[in-house]
Amino acid sequence: MDSVKVAVRVRPFSQREKDAGSRCMISMNSSCTSIYDPKHPKNRKTFKFDLAYWSHSGFVKTRNGMLVADSPSSRYADQKKIFNDIGRSLLDNAWQGYNATLLAYGQTGSGKSYTVIGYGANQGLIPMICKELFNTINNNQDRNRQYQVSYSMLEIYNEQIKGLLSKTKQPGGLKLREDQQTGFYVEGLKCVPCENYAQIESLMVQGTKMRTTAATNMNSTSSRSHMVITIQFKQIFLDEKISKQSNITLVDLAGSERQKSSGSEGDRLREGTSVNLSLATLGNVISALAEAATGKKVLHIPYRDSVLTKLLQSALGGNSRTVMIAALSPADICYEETLSSLRYAERAKKIRNKAIVNESPTEKIVKELKAENARLLSKLSRLGNSEKQMEDEAKDLQRLVAENELQIQAVQTFWEERLKEAQNEWEEQCAAITQERHMIQLFPYIVNVNEDPQLSGVVKYFIQKGVCKVGQDPSCSPSIILKGLGIMNQHATFTNLDGIVTLEPSDQAKVYVNGTLLITKVRLKHSDRIIFGSNSTYLYTGFPCERLADIDLAHFDYDFFQSEMATAEGFGIEKMGAVNSQSGSSNPSVLAVFHDYIKIMPLVKEANQMSKELRKDLKFEIEVKNLAISDSRGHDLEKEIIVKVTNQVTSQVWVWSKAKFINRKFLMEELYQHYLDGECTRVDKEYDPFWDPVEAICLGSAHVWLQPLAYCIKVEEQVEFLNWEGKVEAVLQIHLNPCSCTGQHFGEDDIVIDPTEMLDKRSDFQIEISQCLGVRWLQYIKDRGVQIGYCVYDHPCKFYTDPVWNNQKPKFNHKLHFTVLNVSQDYLNYLQTSALVVELWGLQEGCNDLIWSSQDIKVTDKGSIIIDSKRRTLSSHCNLATSDSQICELYLKLSKLEQETEFLREVNTALKEENTYLKNSQKKFNTTRNESAGSKKEYKMSKVKASSGSTPVSFLPKDQSQKDAQGTSCDAQFAKALKVFYQSMTIVQGQLLRLRRHRPPEDDNLKTLQLFTEEQSQMFKEFGKQLDACVCRLKADVSTIVKKKRESMSNGKS
Ligand SMILES: Nc1ncnc2c1ncn2[C@@H]1O[C@H](COP(=O)(O)OP(=O)(O)OP(=O)(O)O)[C@@H](O)[C@H]1O
Ligand SMILES: [Mg+2]
Repeated sequence: MDSVKVAVRVRPFSQREKDAGSRCMISMNSSCTSIYDPKHPKNRKTFKFDLAYWSHSGFVKTRNGMLVADSPSSRYADQKKIFNDIGRSLLDNAWQGYNATLLAYGQTGSGKSYTVIGYGANQGLIPMICKELFNTINNNQDRNRQYQVSYSMLEIYNEQIKGLLSKTKQPGGLKLREDQQTGFYVEGLKCVPCENYAQIESLMVQGTKMRTTAATNMNSTSSRSHMVITIQFKQIFLDEKISKQSNITLVDLAGSERQKSSGSEGDRLREGTSVNLSLATLGNVISALAEAATGKKVLHIPYRDSVLTKLLQSALGGNSRTVMIAALSPADICYEETLSSLRYAERAKKIRNKAIVNESPTEKIVKELKAENARLLSKLSRLGNSEKQMEDEAKDLQRLVAENELQIQAVQTFWEERLKEAQNEWEEQCAAITQERHMIQLFPYIVNVNEDPQLSGVVKYFIQKGVCKVGQDPSCSPSIILKGLGIMNQHATFTNLDGIVTLEPSDQAKVYVNGTLLITKVRLKHSDRIIFGSNSTYLYTGFPCERLADIDLAHFDYDFFQSEMATAEGFGIEKMGAVNSQSGSSNPSVLAVFHDYIKIMPLVKEANQMSKELRKDLKFEIEVKNLAISDSRGHDLEKEIIVKVTNQVTSQVWVWSKAKFINRKFLMEELYQHYLDGECTRVDKEYDPFWDPVEAICLGSAHVWLQPLAYCIKVEEQVEFLNWEGKVEAVLQIHLNPCSCTGQHFGEDDIVIDPTEMLDKRSDFQIEISQCLGVRWLQYIKDRGVQIGYCVYDHPCKFYTDPVWNNQKPKFNHKLHFTVLNVSQDYLNYLQTSALVVELWGLQEGCNDLIWSSQDIKVTDKGSIIIDSKRRTLSSHCNLATSDSQICELYLKLSKLEQETEFLREVNTALKEENTYLKNSQKKFNTTRNESAGSKKEYKMSKVKASSGSTPVSFLPKDQSQKDAQGTSCDAQFAKALKVFYQSMTIVQGQLLRLRRHRPPEDDNLKTLQLFTEEQSQMFKEFGKQLDACVCRLKADVSTIVKKKRESMSNGKS
């Protein structure tokens, strides 16, 4: 029994990760690999694997581009180290006659292809294994030994197998067949005999070209397909008349994050893609095998659930010595995915295989095959031809006979014959390569740039002298045939005349040069970036004399194309504020949104084109959502990319998260592939990636600041609903009324001066929503409605008004009464610092109204809704903290906070005492001065205070006649001043929010920019004025009150 050997390798940071200020969350020592949770760094998980490679740091680039350790003490694992450990062990097994398999697993961009194939000077395992294999073969002096090496290369995309070495395309892909002895194999897969490493190298180039063409035609990335390379190695021992055969299989799996498509949990179709299916099945197979290896009874290993697992059957739990290498991304943003890769690898460690030496006498094979054929033929003759149901069986038998014949032939045909055939093809290939090298020295050309760096720079088109048309079907010669989304039959024309190359788009065709849409003919310069159609990206290389050494073409990678395009479309990195133009420092969170934007932007273009061609009527638009709109403190929090989807016929609108869109885009590609293959694209709507049930849409939100409620001051507001671009969607009329438990509104007399007075008492208020004005959602389009929703404090339920349909000025008559049974400090903080975030929801034809379930709601005996039933407790906070030390820390903090609170309470009591003293002296003064004053004063809240044993605190007298009295209490005046202050502060806060969301225009037009700047400075001016006025008024009011108080005190003393 052989265990699957598992290795892990962590790569360096990518430029993107460096820009975003990423931290490395992987550490390795000997064979232990640990991962830290970036949100809870003390949370560390450690794994033990057979091999662990640190390729994250401690390296330098040599002059020829190789990455090597930067010092003798560096632990950097370069490509050679991986080959010496893993490659050599695979080769040793092959020499012994065992099948050997390598699986590279990991998320997109984690370094699978780097390890398996390699980049440039940093060759990966396949080239190094092949080189070494031929080295050993060539050194062999034994005439009694012969060696045969053949090479095959296939790709599994969309559950179809594509041979990468044959020029003819099989519709629906190659078929998988099952052999009783050897298991599954690919019928008709081209397997090319090779005599030396150079031939293998050229086959690899040929295969990558095929892969690239397929990917560029489809606009899919290779990250979505699995690539399987098999080196068949046969040793023939002439004297012993036996042969040993080994298959070395190297699998570069598709990016693993697709299987979870993290973040798209909400999508009903998240499990639907084929990549998900095959990687998920691979996971299930590994789990089942791991369980079986630990002695559990496992009845079924689901190999047959996907093409990939069928092909890998012998590698997993079968006749193979297998190594899995899990490629890891080091950055904190990849934590979830990296952890899941580590867990995947951990399970794979448990699998046990039964590898055997594939040794057999040659004649014996032929004899066995012939016997098998005789048996099949006799069975076939017994069947007869008449019965219809027998037909299928007969067909199957005939096919098996034919296959056996082929195998007999293959064994008997001389290896030399097959070699000769291959040799001819190889010569053709060599001639083509020489021709290409020659052309490079003569003509300008365009070369493909792919999202997967492995596929970039693979396909070249030369622009020879004269006119050269570009398109799906330019139907003239010379021409460049480009497939791909949004490319028209006759898309553009290159002209190469007098040492000048120009490019001209055809009518209606989209061609972008350096990010700008071409309207007319342009002259091309060396290193110009060209995008044809939706997203077919090519780099232009000029005449040899233009190719300056100081331009590094590698700089113009896929990301460069996309960020250039984003900038040209008014969405530049500076405009978003990702980089501070003065200090040059970058803002990682904004940078992350910018990177998301450039990742999604081309996908949105492709989705639009697919929607058009498949007649789905959907329009996709990328938008940046400012999360401040849903934050109760209105802070300028992070931003997030969303995709707005509009049905252009029905005007129905959907909003998709980034993750949901990516998931759907993959499914669209799969559907579109069927369309390209001429298959039926009609799908039930439940499986249609373009379809979703109609839902209510959140149009925007308004912030109603709650501070006045902390003082029992009523809030009467007209607030604007702003959408995530900061534009006004509607105006809302809303009232928040502090009230008694029976619902009687409080008046000015009930104002509280010190909100802490409310602590531990009951407090009630009502939310009244009367109407909305100027709702944009309802303009021009019929059968639409609106609803308003909001959350209060930390109550889990969202409350909604009743829906109103087809009314431009919807009236709601919504009134809810809320009760806080025990005002806590937390609740007071909430009132003082937060806003009620009120959301405006758009209803559309076919969607359900938004409802709130009264089940989760606790009410008082009078029917008001209790909102502090789920008060935050220390224990609930502690759930997050897992370690003892964290709990200790929290306790320390808590007790410190309690001490501070105690101190503040003491200060408060002292102030209150002074206040009472002042009031008593004022009362005395009033009684002596005002004869008429005799009525008993009633203090509403003081009763409660009295019962708690401390000195009664004055609240405003209820008796109206008292207010008119000359000696109106200072408290009342103070309360009034506060009310005015908070009301005007609400306006100021609104203005601040508007300022924060005020964004520069998207186009680069100087005039509009000027207008924007003027507007902005006007807004700042107004904001400043309002703030000044607010503070001045408060200052004036307070000083008047203090003055009056002093006067009255001095009068009292005198
Ligand atoms: N060990 C390494 N050292 C240096 N660079 C690396 C290493 N591993 C990966 N890279 C770089 O990281 C990038 C992504 O690597 P690679 O193409 O191998 O990812 P992948 O796992 O194959 O992704 P996909 O699933 O998209 O095919 C490449 O630019 C590659 O050069
Ligand atoms: Mg790859």
